[in-house]
Amino acid sequence: MKRVTKAVFPAAGMGTRFLPATKANPKEMLPIVDKPLIQYAAEEAAAAGITDLIFIIGRTKRAIADHFDKAYELEVELETRGKLRSLEALRGMLPVNLSYIYIRQAEALGLGHAVLCAQPAVNDEPFAVLLADDLIDGAPGVTKQMCDLYNYYQCSLVGVQNIAPEETASYGIVATEPLAERISRITQIVEKPAPDKAPSTLGVVGRYVLTPRIFHHLNHIERGSGNELQLTDAIASLLKEQQVLAYEFEGKRYDCGSKLGYLEATVEYALQHPEVRDDFEAYLKQRFCAPYKQD
Ligand code: UTP
Repeated sequence: MKRVTKAVFPAAGMGTRFLPATKANPKEMLPIVDKPLIQYAAEEAAAAGITDLIFIIGRTKRAIADHFDKAYELEVELETRGKLRSLEALRGMLPVNLSYIYIRQAEALGLGHAVLCAQPAVNDEPFAVLLADDLIDGAPGVTKQMCDLYNYYQCSLVGVQNIAPEETASYGIVATEPLAERISRITQIVEKPAPDKAPSTLGVVGRYVLTPRIFHHLNHIERGSGNELQLTDAIASLLKEQQVLAYEFEGKRYDCGSKLGYLEATVEYALQHPEVRDDFEAYLKQRFCAPYKQD
């Protein structure tokens, strides 16, 4: 039985909803309080026992690799200035002995194409996919929940969540048959259907564990919605030969690819952050609960 030790982090999208912030920086480098989205995702993967982190990077290629590289000069500078807490935060960012692999997606041809770019690094192994702009607060993390399920069921899994009926056109949507608590068999999957065409309101969010057979299907599908190679379409094709499960994960998801979701995550994570939570809560109370006073 193969365990999941590799994770793919597609981070080569255009990030149009966050322009101009994403003009020179990938969306995945936007910070929630003091850590970029991609670091939350990397931590979630590492906590699931993933050892090989495969980043698919695009136009703004350097930022993510720079973020995970050791910054010798910065460390020396912090030490010299006696900023030991900052130094500790920098050094303890992620466990040691992880491998970081960076693959260039030369053109943003879609999420399916981004995952296909990882094939040479994944080879013939099951692997996780994390879309860092879906920030999910879960304990244990959703990737750990899904890797444990993979070890049991030995088949592909996609993370799903019930969404508002009017939002189906923003998600891959699945039709399912129940299998166990929170787990169902996918019978159909469609990318971004209009509400009247959607087979359910179970939307796919940015967590997957996939068998390597997905690469065969990614290599054979045509461009789909948005004229992009869609991972959803490859999963629809995979379904014809392998079981794929939908997992209603435990955790709160923030859609940090949208401005509103990003702001919600910022508020919620700030209210949990040991350094700022008390002052931030006091600020919110004063701002929203105290009688309004114009300056
Ligand atoms: P999105 O659908 O959110 O697209 O991508 P986007 O380009 O990042 O953002 P908007 O919609 O223009 O604002 C979902 C995920 O797939 C990655 C993105 O980086 C994000 O993690 N992706 C998408 C790629 O890596 N390559 C692509 O060609 C497309």
